[in-house]
Amino acid sequence: MKLIAQFSLVLVFSVGVLVAAMALPSHVVQEGMQSAPMVEAGRRMTMPCMSCHGANGDASEGKYPKLAGQNAEYLVAAMRAYRDGRRDSSEMRVFMAQLADEEIDAIAAFYAAQAPR
Ligand code: HEC
Repeated sequence: MKLIAQFSLVLVFSVGVLVAAMALPSHVVQEGMQSAPMVEAGRRMTMPCMSCHGANGDASEGKYPKLAGQNAEYLVAAMRAYRDGRRDSSEMRVFMAQLADEEIDAIAAFYAAQAPR
C-alpha cells in the first residue's frame, strides 16, 4: 500500500514536470512574437510592402493577400518559402531576398498584431 502511494506520488510529480516543460517554451515563444519592440521593428520594415499589402496588411486590392491578423507562424513560413525559392512569386521574391530570419520574425509579429478588417 505504501509502495503504491509512493509510486503515485512520483507519477503525479513526473506528469507535473512534463506539463511544465511542454507549456514553457510555447509561452516564451508567444511572448517573444508579440513583444512591443519587435512589433515596432517589424512595422518599420514593412514600408516597401504597403503599396501592395496596404498600410497595416489590410490590402484592398483583390490580387494582394491580406496579412493583418494572420498567424505569425504562417507568415514566417510563407516569407521564408519565397526567400528560399520554395514558393514562387516574381513580385514577392525580390522583397524577401535580403531578409534575415530575425527580420522575417519581426515582420510577422507586426502583421499578426494588426486587427483584420
Ligand atoms: C509588388 C507587390 C508586392 C509587394 C511590394 C509585396 N508583396 Fe507580398 N505578396 C504579393 C503578392 C502578389 C502575393 C501573393 C503571391 C502568391 O501567389 O504566392 C504576396 C504574398 C505575400 C505573403 C503570403 C501571404 C499568404 O497568405 O500566403 C506574405 C507574408 C507577404 N506577401 C509579405 C510581404 C512583405 C512583408 C512585403 C514587404 C517586405 C511584401 N509582401 C511586399 C505582392 C507584393
